[in-house]
Amino acid sequence: MSYEKITIFDTTLRDGEQSPGASMTLEEKLQIALALEKMRVDVIEAGFPASSKGDFEAVSAISEKIKNATICALSRAHKNDITLAGKALKNAKKSRIHTFIATSPIHMKHKLNMSKSEVVKKAKEAVTLAKTFTNDVEFSAEDAFRSEKEFLCEIFETVIDAGATTINVPDTVGYATPSEVFELISYLLKNIKNSKRATFSVHCHNDLGMATANSLSAVLAGAGQVECTINGIGERAGNAALEEVVMALKTRQDLFKKEVRIDTTKLTTLSKLVSSITNIDVQPNKAIVGANAFAHEAGIHQDGVIKNPETYEIMKASDVGLKSNQLVLGKHSGRNALKTRLRELGFDFSSEKEEEFLDIFEKFKELADRKHEIFDDDILSLVFHKNSQEKAIEFIDIKTSTDYTKNLHCATISLKVNGKQIQKTGSGNGTVDAIFDAIKKATSSDYTMELYSIKSVTPGTDAQGEAIVRLSKGGVVVSGNDANVDTIVASAKAYINALNKMKSIMQKK
Ligand code: KIV
Ligand code: ZN
Repeated sequence: MSYEKITIFDTTLRDGEQSPGASMTLEEKLQIALALEKMRVDVIEAGFPASSKGDFEAVSAISEKIKNATICALSRAHKNDITLAGKALKNAKKSRIHTFIATSPIHMKHKLNMSKSEVVKKAKEAVTLAKTFTNDVEFSAEDAFRSEKEFLCEIFETVIDAGATTINVPDTVGYATPSEVFELISYLLKNIKNSKRATFSVHCHNDLGMATANSLSAVLAGAGQVECTINGIGERAGNAALEEVVMALKTRQDLFKKEVRIDTTKLTTLSKLVSSITNIDVQPNKAIVGANAFAHEAGIHQDGVIKNPETYEIMKASDVGLKSNQLVLGKHSGRNALKTRLRELGFDFSSEKEEEFLDIFEKFKELADRKHEIFDDDILSLVFHKNSQEKAIEFIDIKTSTDYTKNLHCATISLKVNGKQIQKTGSGNGTVDAIFDAIKKATSSDYTMELYSIKSVTPGTDAQGEAIVRLSKGGVVVSGNDANVDTIVASAKAYINALNKMKSIMQKK
C-alpha cells in the first residue's frame, strides 16, 4: 500500500545552531549536511545568509556539494536578506528560499511596530522577490499559534497568490497543545481558498515538551511537511526531534497512513555526529537515540524479550542503526578491516577521500597501541574528532607536574600558533586548570569558560576520555572537543579546538 509522502525538513544547521554553544564551523556543517543527504532528508535548511558571513559561506558551500536534497536558506522579509539568500543558493541543484515575518499581535506591536496591512504587504513583496531566485518559496508566519486565525488566512492566501509553494505554521514559542495544532491546521486548510496550491508545514518548539506530539497532530490534520532537528536541538528547549517524528510516522503507519523517505538506519550515527559536533549530550532516556532507548533492565522485561522481542519492543534497535557495542578491531587490524567497519557504520571513504581515511587510520593505530579493545564508539570518535582543516593553533606537546602536599600544579604547553612555535608555563588549582592557564598565555586569549566536562567514550579504565570546552565572548558561544586515552591531552586539545573555532567564527562575523 502506498501512502502520501511527508516532507522532512531538517533545520539542525539553522534553528539547531541557535542552541547555546552549538556554533559550527563550515567543515562541520558540511559534514552534517552530507550525512543528512545520505539519510535522504528532503530539505536541508543550511543557514541564514544575512545573519553572518559564516552563514552565507556555509549555505554556498552546502549548495555546491549537496545534490539529492533541496537546500533552503532563511531570510527575513527584507530585500537584502532575500537577495543574499538567493546569491548563497546560486549553485544549488534544488534551492528554496524561506522567508518569514511575525503575525501575532504581540510581535507586530512590540517587535515590528507594524500594522496588519503593512505586514501583509511586506510578506507579499518578500515572496514576489524570492520567486525571482527560485520557484520553491516557503513563507512562515512567525508566532502563528498566538496569531489571529482570520489574519493567518488573509496573509497565507496573499502569499500563495504571490507564489509561495510551502506555508509554514510555526509554534515559535512552544505554546500550542496537540488539539490546538489539529484545530488550527484543519481550519487553515479548510478556510484558505487557495490552500490546495501549497504544502502546509509545521515548525514546533519544545518549551512545554510537546513539539513532537504537536508535529504529529499537524500531520493528522493534513500538514505535508514537518520541520525538525536531529536530537531536537534548537532555540531554547529546542525543536521537534527528527528521529522521534520519523520513527513515530513509521512505527504507527497504521494510524498516520503516511510515508517518509528517510533511511532510519542512519539515525543513530547522525545523532552521535550532531552531539559530537555541537557538544550537546543526548539524555540517556531520550526516545530513539538515548543510550537506554533500547535497553531492558527489569528482569520481567528481559525474560519477555528473550521469549519474543515484540513483548516489550515496538521498534527494532537495528531499524535505527543501533549495533551492539561489540569488540570489532584491535592492534593487528589493517586498513581494509577499518574501512569495512567504517562502511558498516555509515562512512564511505572512497578513493577521493583516501587522505582523510589515512589520517583516521593513523589515529586508529595510535589508539590501538594504547587501548587494548577498540569499540564502535571509539571508531566513531576518531571520525568525529578528525583534524579540522582550519587550524590557527596546533597542539605539539605538554608536560605537567604536581606536588599534592603543597597543592602546586604546573603545566608547560608547546603549541604552533599561526605557524610559530610557542612554549608557555601555567599554574592552577589542578592539572587541567594549569594547562588552560598555559594555553591562555600561549595564545593571548581572553574568553569566558562556560563549561568544561569530561566523560568516557567507552567502558574500562583505558577508555578514551572525551573532553568538552565551551568558551564565550560578546555573545558568541563555541564548543570544542577531543577524545584521547589520556584525559589531560584530551582536555588541552578540546580547549585548542574551541579556540580555533572561536577564531574562525569571529573572522567571519
Ligand atoms: O521558530 C520560528 O518561528 C522560526 C521561524 C524562522 C520559522 O524558527
Ligand atoms: Zn524556530
